Amino acid sequence: METKRLVIDKKYCEKLNQEQEKLLDKEVEEAAQLIKTGQLVAFPTETVYGLGADALNEAACANIFKVKGRPADNPLIVHVADFAEAKRLTSTWNEKAEKCAQAFWPGPLTLVLPKADVIPEIISGGLKTVAVRMPDHPVALSLIRLSGCPIAAPSANISGKPSPTDGEHVWLDLQGKIPLIIDAGKCQIGLESTVLDLSEEKPVILRPGGISKEQLEGVLGQIEMDRFFSEQSSVKIAPKAPGMKYRHYAPEGDVYAIQGDQGDGKEVLSAIKQGLTKFAGSEKKALLCMKETEEQLSAGDKRKFDLIFILGEKKEPARAARRLFEGLRLCDQQKMEIILVEGMSAEGIGLAFMNRLRKAAGKKFLTGKK
Ligand code: TXA
Ligand code: MG
Repeated sequence: METKRLVIDKKYCEKLNQEQEKLLDKEVEEAAQLIKTGQLVAFPTETVYGLGADALNEAACANIFKVKGRPADNPLIVHVADFAEAKRLTSTWNEKAEKCAQAFWPGPLTLVLPKADVIPEIISGGLKTVAVRMPDHPVALSLIRLSGCPIAAPSANISGKPSPTDGEHVWLDLQGKIPLIIDAGKCQIGLESTVLDLSEEKPVILRPGGISKEQLEGVLGQIEMDRFFSEQSSVKIAPKAPGMKYRHYAPEGDVYAIQGDQGDGKEVLSAIKQGLTKFAGSEKKALLCMKETEEQLSAGDKRKFDLIFILGEKKEPARAARRLFEGLRLCDQQKMEIILVEGMSAEGIGLAFMNRLRKAAGKKFLTGKK
C-alpha cells in the first residue's frame, strides 16, 4: 500500500484562532474522509502519535490490531472532541469524571468508565468499561470533529516498540501499511496519557502518564496506584489496564536503568562505571543521561560509549520525559546493544518516566552501590 505523508506546519500545533482553524480543517479534510470510509490514519496528539480509526466501526478497529500486531485482549482508548461525545460513549458519567474532565481536558488524561452499548466489543477487549480521552492537539481535535465520529487510537507504533513521539518514527514503523500519516513533528509531552479508572468507588491510576498523581490528587483527594505497580515483583497479579502487562516501550538493545540519586550524582557516575566494566566487550554501548551527569564523566569514559544522548537538565524533568522514547528509538536506529539510561525521582512526570524506563529495562538495573 502506498502511504501518503501529510506534513502539517508547526504553526498549527498551538492554540489557533478561528481563521487558522479553518485553514487547518482544509488540510485535515482528506484524512477525515479516510476515517469516514473505515480506513486508518496516524495522527499527532500532545502525548504520542495515535493510529486512528472510526471507533464505532468494528472492522476498521479490527484493522488497527492487525497493522500493529497488537494482542486482541488489549483494549483501545477512544478519542473525543467534546464532553457530550464522552458522555454518549459511557453508561455512567459520574461526578469524579466531570471534575477530572473539567480540570484536565483537553489533555493527557484517559478516563475509564462503564461503557455504553454503542461501544463495539473489540474496543473494550471484553471488559465492561471504556477508556476515553480528549487530546490537546489542534490536529487531533480537527480530525475527530471532521470525521464526525469518536476515534479509537492506540499509540502508532508496531506493538512492543517505544511509542512514536515524532512523525518520522511513525513513518519508519507504518509506512506501506496504512494510507495516510499526518506528520506534525515532535509531540509536546512525549509519554502516553495517564489512565485513571473511575469505574469503581475508589479512583485508581492504571498507567501513570502526562497528568501527574499529584495533579489528580489536587482534584480528587488521595488516589491509589493499581496494585500491579506495588506487587509487580512478588505476587503474580494481572494489571487492570491489560496493556501494562506486555513488554513494551522497549528497543532492540538491552536497557539497564540507572537508579538516579538526588545527591551529588556520585552514585550515578559509579553505576555508569560499573556498566562500562561489565560490558567492556565489543558491544555497541549507549548512554541516555542528564546533562549534569554527562558533564561529570571523564573524557575516557565518554569515549567508551558509541552514543551519548542528553535527556535534559535535572531541573527540567518534563524535557527528559519528552525525549526518552526519542533516545530509545535512536539507539535502535544506530543498532546499540547495551543502553544505560539514567533515572529520576518518581514524582510528578518522573513517575511516568520511571514506569516506562522500568518496562524498557525489564528487571535490569545498575545502582552504583558497592
Ligand atoms: O497518550 C495516549 O494515551 C496515546 C495517545 C495516542 O492517545 N494512546 C495510547 O494508547 O497510549 P495505547 O493503546 O498504546 O495504550 C492504552 C492503554 C493500554 O495499557 C490499555 O490496556 C489501557 O490503556 N486501556 C484501554 N482501555 C481500557 C479499559 N477499558 N480498562 C482498562 N485499561 C484500558
Ligand atoms: Mg501503546
